[in-house]
Amino acid sequence: MTGEKRAGERKVFVKTYGCQMNVYDSDRMIDVLATEGYVATDNAEAADLVILNTCHIREKAAEKVYSDIGRYRDVKQARALEGHRTMIAVAGCVAQAEGLEIARRAPAVDLVVGPQSYHRLPDLLVEAADRTRQSRVVATDFDVEAKFAEMPLPRPAVTASRGPTAFLTVQEGCDKFCTFCVVPYTRGAEVSRPAAQVIAEAERLAAAGVREVTLLGQNVNAYHGEGPDGGRWSLARLIYRLAEIPGLDRLRYTTSHPRDMGDDLIAAHAELPALMPYLHLPVQSGSDRILAAMNRRHVAADYLRLIERIRRARPDMALSGDFIVGFPGETDADFEATMRLVEHVRYAACFSFKYSPRPGTPAAGDADQVAEAVKSERLQRLQALINDQTHEFNAATVGKAVDVLIEKAGRHRGQLVGRSPWLQPVHIDGPAEWIGSVRKVAIERAEGFSLFGCVLSTPDAEGRMMSATMTCAG
Ligand code: 5AD
Ligand code: SF4
Repeated sequence: MTGEKRAGERKVFVKTYGCQMNVYDSDRMIDVLATEGYVATDNAEAADLVILNTCHIREKAAEKVYSDIGRYRDVKQARALEGHRTMIAVAGCVAQAEGLEIARRAPAVDLVVGPQSYHRLPDLLVEAADRTRQSRVVATDFDVEAKFAEMPLPRPAVTASRGPTAFLTVQEGCDKFCTFCVVPYTRGAEVSRPAAQVIAEAERLAAAGVREVTLLGQNVNAYHGEGPDGGRWSLARLIYRLAEIPGLDRLRYTTSHPRDMGDDLIAAHAELPALMPYLHLPVQSGSDRILAAMNRRHVAADYLRLIERIRRARPDMALSGDFIVGFPGETDADFEATMRLVEHVRYAACFSFKYSPRPGTPAAGDADQVAEAVKSERLQRLQALINDQTHEFNAATVGKAVDVLIEKAGRHRGQLVGRSPWLQPVHIDGPAEWIGSVRKVAIERAEGFSLFGCVLSTPDAEGRMMSATMTCAG
């Protein structure tokens, strides 16, 4: 019965901060803990174990973790008064970066576990539960290969609860050392999973009803995993293989670095219908001077040439990017170069951030930090430009018939929400049975950052589109 706790069953509440890899990792932690009798709960007050899966990429993200720990400490104390024990674990990149410091700053925390130690969670929890221990358990080794080998495959129940789309980590860590970024320190060196592991996981996801898989990696297009044939496989090679898995209609990947965008990956976009025409390709700045200071190892013109090649291969490719404004030493002229680059590329969507000095990264110590007010003003201008581009991109879809993977129920009764091939949210009316299927939708209007339309066709038993049923009004 729901709500009732079976004997021996323990509840785990996981709060996820930050990127998609953390979303993936949180589900994998739930899978590992299931082997120990834990079930996931959305209610922290009912949890025997609270895991905060944290993000360290910018200052605000890290600070939020400490204020949340205070909140869960109160829950822990309240439950203790009722005779229940609550363990608090801090996982993710703050755990990796701050380790012991967390235990010092927040004594309510029982366990600090870095991203490469999740396969050891059951043992670490036993250690942390030992009341005779004098100190907190801190596990921040870098052993990503062992983690990949030992983590269980996703359990169908967890997969199904996420709907028809899933993330799948194929690569972790980064060797690029951009001077602003903590990732090489928190996630460690670049490691690719063997292709056979990835294929097995993707097959498992497809069997559980997943229609779209997004391959994840901090530097996903640098993927160079061991192939089943013993050689090294590129990301493109892996994608061609995954596209053969029955039921996987859509493949995506993120995040890519411009320097690792191989010819074979660009060709795959031209050749593979399952590979969606959307590419997240951060450039960070349009100024060559700033790109050099960031250690990006390319200039703006290289990036623009690359975009041209990608668009030649796949003319309808939607592009997105990340930008940092107010990097140390960024002048008005540098910022204007970023604005010009954005105007030139015409993005479908972008993320943009104020530079945030991260402890231990080279740029954090630069003397010429940009004033907060200047950062805010630049960010506002950049975001206004990007929003205009997103609206323009969405408006250009109105009047077209596009394939939509229906993902979940919408906010209103009878409403469903899915995604176009270009990752735009699309709202339609229809029955819940449509969730998990791809439908041809006539886009009627664009509003805010969403599209609205009506279904033109339903797939037949073999999944082929039939233009028979029209649910469009008029
Ligand atoms: N300050 C601001 N933004 C950052 N990012 C990474 N590190 C920082 C930082 N120190 C941004 C980059 C990256 C995205 C994930 O976060 O744009 O691509
Ligand atoms: Fe960070 Fe990406 Fe640069 Fe790696 S390539 S250091 S993850 S911004």
